[in-house]
Amino acid sequence: MRVGVLTGGGDCPGLNAVIRAVVRKGEVHYGYDLVGFADGWRGVIEGRTIPLDVERCRGILPRGGTILGTSRTNPYKVDGGVTKALATLEKERVDALVAIGGEDTLGVANKLAGEGVSVVGVPKTIDNDLSATEVTFGFHTAVQIATDAIDRLHTTAESHDRVIVCEVMGRHAGWIATYAGIAGGDAEIIVPEEPFDVDEVCRKLQARHAKGRYASIVVVAEGARPKEGTIAVASGEVDQFGHERLGGIGNQLAIEIEKRTGFESRVTILGHVQRGGTPTAFDRVLATRFGVAAIDAVHDGEFGTMVALDAGRIIRVPLAEGVSELKTIDPSLYRDVAEIFTG
Ligand code: F6P
Repeated sequence: MRVGVLTGGGDCPGLNAVIRAVVRKGEVHYGYDLVGFADGWRGVIEGRTIPLDVERCRGILPRGGTILGTSRTNPYKVDGGVTKALATLEKERVDALVAIGGEDTLGVANKLAGEGVSVVGVPKTIDNDLSATEVTFGFHTAVQIATDAIDRLHTTAESHDRVIVCEVMGRHAGWIATYAGIAGGDAEIIVPEEPFDVDEVCRKLQARHAKGRYASIVVVAEGARPKEGTIAVASGEVDQFGHERLGGIGNQLAIEIEKRTGFESRVTILGHVQRGGTPTAFDRVLATRFGVAAIDAVHDGEFGTMVALDAGRIIRVPLAEGVSELKTIDPSLYRDVAEIFTG
């Protein structure tokens, strides 16, 4: 059996740990021949492969990024993309494919499964917004990086008695903002799930600062949107999956806070720092378990499925279920603890 492996979408700490697990179990345990595709679906369309074996995967477990490269290429948006991708799989004699990605990469995997491709998905994204799995690998690492940054922002904000707005990733879901905000003891957590009222944010900060010299950290997810008419938001470029390039709401918020409260304000946009570098131990373990489970699913012929975490166990769910809708934050998660941050 020859098994192809690809990583698509934004990179994520733990991708190499998945690749390593798929290759080690595939080669050593099942005797499979493995081949990587470069740069996600783009490599499948263009027929660009990367040799994959146990030797090639030595030392990659703690490494961030992906040795296969990645892209946001959508074969369904490229002229002749699907035909070319299917031709590559045939030419490379690929019997099964392990696709490691988020909603977009796995959405393509799901469609290709409908065209007869034997594919198993592995859910990845630092945003943790994929349905049907309790958590995606990479999320834990991103939260830790954001929390470490917030801890550092606290001491400088306190020294200068400033408000610091910390913008984190999270296009449609506020998982990173909520977890890092709670872990970092932030004054305000602003997520994409609920449009925010900038006046209310300012009122809460004023109430907090009225008690004396007291700095505040406000964490905001990049996809957060103000209530209509409260602040004008700029729109950016769109990729092949129709996603706008985000980043900037933090700047706007800091300007508004300073204007409306008079508190000196600064902004820190964490950006791609959250996606880079070595995965936490938790993510290495989860990624390894997902990789092993994915190649087991290939061996069992359970195609059109995605591996997932459910109450600590690894299960298989239909790919369609994993990509059907985004998993957003239940606002009660932060509301229940928010009160203790306002005092
Ligand atoms: O990995 C998902 C994500 O982190 C989103 O939160 C973010 O909007 C996007 O990637 C940015 O990725 P890029 O700059 O690589 O397109």
